[in-house]
Amino acid sequence: MCGIVGYIGYREAFPIVIKGLRRLEYRGYDSAGVMLYDGNELVVCKTKGKVADLEERCKDTTTAGATIGMGHTRWATHGVPNDVNSHPHLSNSGELAIIHNGIIENYEPLKKELINRGYTFKSDTDTEVLVNLIEDVQKTQNLKLGKAVQVALRQVIGAYAICVFDIKKPNEIIVARLGSPLAIGVGENEYFIASDASPFIEYTTNAIYLEDEEIAVIRLGKKLKVRKIKDDSLVDPYVQKLQMNLEQIEKGGYDHFMLKEIYEQPSVIKDTYRGRLLADQGIIRMAGIEDNLERFVNAERILIVACGTSWHAGLVAEYVIEEFTRIPVEVEYASEFRYRNPIINKGDVVIAISQSGETADTLAAIKLAKENGAFVFGVCNVVGSSISRETHAGAYTHAGPEIGVASTKAFTTQITVLTMIALRIAQAKGTLNHTDYRRYLQELERIPEQVKEALESNDVAKEIAAVFKDAPNCLYLGRGYNFPVALEGALKLKEISYIHAEGYPAAEMKHGPIALIDEMMPVVVIAPKQGHYDKVVSNIQEIKSRSGKIIAVVTKGDTQVRDLADYVIEIPETSDALSPLITTIPLQLLSYHIAVFRGCNVDQPRNLAKSVTVE
Ligand code: AGP
Ligand code: GLU
Repeated sequence: MCGIVGYIGYREAFPIVIKGLRRLEYRGYDSAGVMLYDGNELVVCKTKGKVADLEERCKDTTTAGATIGMGHTRWATHGVPNDVNSHPHLSNSGELAIIHNGIIENYEPLKKELINRGYTFKSDTDTEVLVNLIEDVQKTQNLKLGKAVQVALRQVIGAYAICVFDIKKPNEIIVARLGSPLAIGVGENEYFIASDASPFIEYTTNAIYLEDEEIAVIRLGKKLKVRKIKDDSLVDPYVQKLQMNLEQIEKGGYDHFMLKEIYEQPSVIKDTYRGRLLADQGIIRMAGIEDNLERFVNAERILIVACGTSWHAGLVAEYVIEEFTRIPVEVEYASEFRYRNPIINKGDVVIAISQSGETADTLAAIKLAKENGAFVFGVCNVVGSSISRETHAGAYTHAGPEIGVASTKAFTTQITVLTMIALRIAQAKGTLNHTDYRRYLQELERIPEQVKEALESNDVAKEIAAVFKDAPNCLYLGRGYNFPVALEGALKLKEISYIHAEGYPAAEMKHGPIALIDEMMPVVVIAPKQGHYDKVVSNIQEIKSRSGKIIAVVTKGDTQVRDLADYVIEIPETSDALSPLITTIPLQLLSYHIAVFRGCNVDQPRNLAKSVTVE
């Protein structure tokens, strides 16, 4: 999630914090705010919109003299983007201030308990719950801030990178992290805090990167103390000497945002099911689904409307939902759906999928469905986006901002949400036996580590990319659950390398495309052990007998396809229904490296926009 900046030292804090927020803008955000302490009072200034809007808003705020400050760029997860939900948030007493990147999944029960204890809330955010939880712990257990933060965080389920300030102890800032990044810049008699080093690299190249479940008390004139949140054990922090330049830091050390986002998939898939998938207890719990479960269980049909990569995620969902729930599913290009006078029945449930939540065709399709009495459920990545506000209910992917125009982590987190929806409906309908249901939950929980393993194929993908970077065309083939992945792989190659590519159901080769096969035609075949393997092997043999060049994505240890294919990329084994989450990884890497070899603008391909808000 987005950006935090903090400063405690001898300089004016405001210019450092504001400039630091500008340095973090590349991460994508919807609102911004600052907190300053000038020795007397704690000043907060925050707004929906950009850092420039924040600077405008701060014009009437006295910022001079403040040598302690914190700033935040928000990527909303709970509570729409508006002034009140922007950070920093203050505790009820007004004495504590917090900025937070991440998600407090169990904020609702924590909020209920705090309300019972007399706390009130101004915002809809999970973060405001955390700052009041810290205050409640501090007051009821009479603890110093650092200890109170530690005790409070032990009650939290979720992800966080936080800075907490207490006006009663104004010479320190408490920081802690789990799942969201937090770096500390160590200067001469000054400390900097940020989501990455870009806000402070011009002041110091000495950086400490907190590890998960670590907390630090940053106090002027004192050596930094880092502890483990769980057992309070002291940690000897490693001070890194930064070599990266600014641009490298913004991309997390990767050459492009797209590659950074490909590698973020293990963590954002985990963020997406965090607090929603409790595999050990056999529970899937998503508020938007629970509140409307009957509609899904009794749906006569599920329509899915989306565009591009989101449409491909919808196609995967068709296979998964029909397999698990036996409810008929139809996937529609939103741009076609909105104009073809479709049949929409009152008993229909429509699922609209959109990373940006602003795609004009998808928005129009939603409105048409609503006009015809359908219940519309949104799967979006941007909280408070037009589509998330237009739908009757929804579930967010927690992929964080996707900067690269070519969608990668949005695709896998969309499939994660849609698979959880299918499993929850199947459980309620009893169309999936208990054993299979529990098995799928366990397997879904393991996906992040398997995606991490699939990412190890990066070097092989790069070697193959070097061979095919000048191919004029490319075919992608897959069966069953991996037919949509073939379409997605082809789209990735098209949109960032400008090579013409087509995805096809593998069995369709005989009905025309096989005429294209010759030694100049690379064919990517998705051939995992699960799901029609023998049929895919036959398709590979058909291609081989016509001198096609075969790049096969296979389950680790496969020998049969390995003997037939020209190139092989191995992936870990999972069940057929979950395989798209894994098989798509090498295809993302392959298209990325081909585009780089071709000198294309990977993050901003020609003619493309990240969000198509026009027809
Ligand atoms: C995918 O890589 C493209 N960027 C594009 O197809 C995209 O998926 C499509 O425009 C839909 O966008 P949305 O998910 O924001 O609605
Ligand atoms: N979950 C918090 C909110 O929605 C923080 C989001 C972020 O990481 O910016 O306000």
